[in-house]
Amino acid sequence: MKPKTIIEPFKIKSVEPIRFTTREEREKLLKDAGYNPFMLYADDVLIDLLTDSGTSAMSAKQWAGIMEGDESYAGSKSFYKFESAVNKITHMKHIIPTHQGRAAEKILFSVVGGPGKYFPNNTHFDTTRANIEFTGAEANDLLTEIGKQPEKRADFKGNMDIEKLEAFINEKGFENIPLCMITVTNNSGGGQPVSMQNIREAKEVCKKYNIPLFLDACRFAENAYFIKLREKGYQDKSVLEIAQEMFSYADGATMSAKKDALVNIGGFLALNDDELAMKCRNLLIVTEGFPTYGGLAGRDLEAVAQGLEEVVDEHYLEYRIKSVEYLGNKIVEGGVPIIEPPGGHAIYIDAKRLLPNVPPEQYPGQSIVCELYLEGGIRAVEIGSVMFGKYDDNGKLIPAMMELVRMAIPRRVYTQSHIDYLIEIILEVFNTREKLKGYKITYEAPMLRHFTARFEPLK
Ligand code: F0G
Repeated sequence: MKPKTIIEPFKIKSVEPIRFTTREEREKLLKDAGYNPFMLYADDVLIDLLTDSGTSAMSAKQWAGIMEGDESYAGSKSFYKFESAVNKITHMKHIIPTHQGRAAEKILFSVVGGPGKYFPNNTHFDTTRANIEFTGAEANDLLTEIGKQPEKRADFKGNMDIEKLEAFINEKGFENIPLCMITVTNNSGGGQPVSMQNIREAKEVCKKYNIPLFLDACRFAENAYFIKLREKGYQDKSVLEIAQEMFSYADGATMSAKKDALVNIGGFLALNDDELAMKCRNLLIVTEGFPTYGGLAGRDLEAVAQGLEEVVDEHYLEYRIKSVEYLGNKIVEGGVPIIEPPGGHAIYIDAKRLLPNVPPEQYPGQSIVCELYLEGGIRAVEIGSVMFGKYDDNGKLIPAMMELVRMAIPRRVYTQSHIDYLIEIILEVFNTREKLKGYKITYEAPMLRHFTARFEPLK
């Protein structure tokens, strides 16, 4: 028989204590932080779900790789190990190391971007959008309609709307679209996967108009595992084979190794086009470093190479995806509205539906984020009108499309009992939601205000 209990596919060799605080202490700590969990000391957080980026636990073999790192400026043997690990999955000709995902984006879009250019994606991540817009180009989201309906369940809510893509190319002109991107999984849309069929169809459209297709591949292994679970014809393929097929439709990829390469820092740009690669490498040398280390130490390259081997392990992915799903399903059973179904790396609470009496001007997501910390020392992040709200000419808030609270799960860091604890605290916050109040902003920076804004609870 196949046991029902899914266990963590690792033993723990080294532990890091977490610090317990009382509710009274947290009340003071949160007040001192201006009711903004970004401003808390990490040491005052019990379970940190701010991000799944750079927060993974490395394996014994990755730590061994750290000692093996070859720190030669040029031609480091760690680079060749890294290059071959990336090549095994992507089969791309040029592998360019960068210090993290946004550095790969910065280089790529500095070369291909500029005024009058358009870059379609299912949904651009913030840094991708910012790097595109910084060049004067436009970043466009063409997500499938179902992906915009948080309460509806579907297998591949990260898909690109293929009809819209073709219409978009015809409207803007193929000559103004230097490349098309697909983000796997779709972080900004709830960590939802993209199907192989969708990638294939996007490729066919791109090919017809001679537009290169790029993957934003941060969470490629999680996406590949969803394909194995949900898409017909992939059940008997290995995750590595599925990932290889995903990349086979792409002409390039940007990657934040801080996610699915299970490391704390790193990234890369992978390309097939020789001329584009030459231009990117030139920029790399100016901004990151020599092409055989990019913005990384040799030891970091070793850790990425090993992490890429480990992340396609199906026992790991089963534990990973099922524990996020377990968290999501349990809180849904308790009545908590989330983006359905649970995503690969995070659960997104729908604050608009959870706190219908707190209007966007009073930041319902922030209210939940604060209460999660006060109740259980949990740090989550508001993705709503604090993060994306703008003001009109009269200083009135233009709210974000959705009011969400993201709880991103670091990889291999927390165990089943941590997840059970999270469920207990989230349900307690939900069941006592009547007492939750809105917040007002008392200080904000002119840009990216969510990082440093200060708040006060409303009476
Ligand atoms: N693309 C996606 C889809 C991402 O989620 C991220 C980072 C990046 C690119 C940029 O990578 O951080 O290495 O420069 N996402 C993190 C998050 C920050 O919390 O979702 P980076």
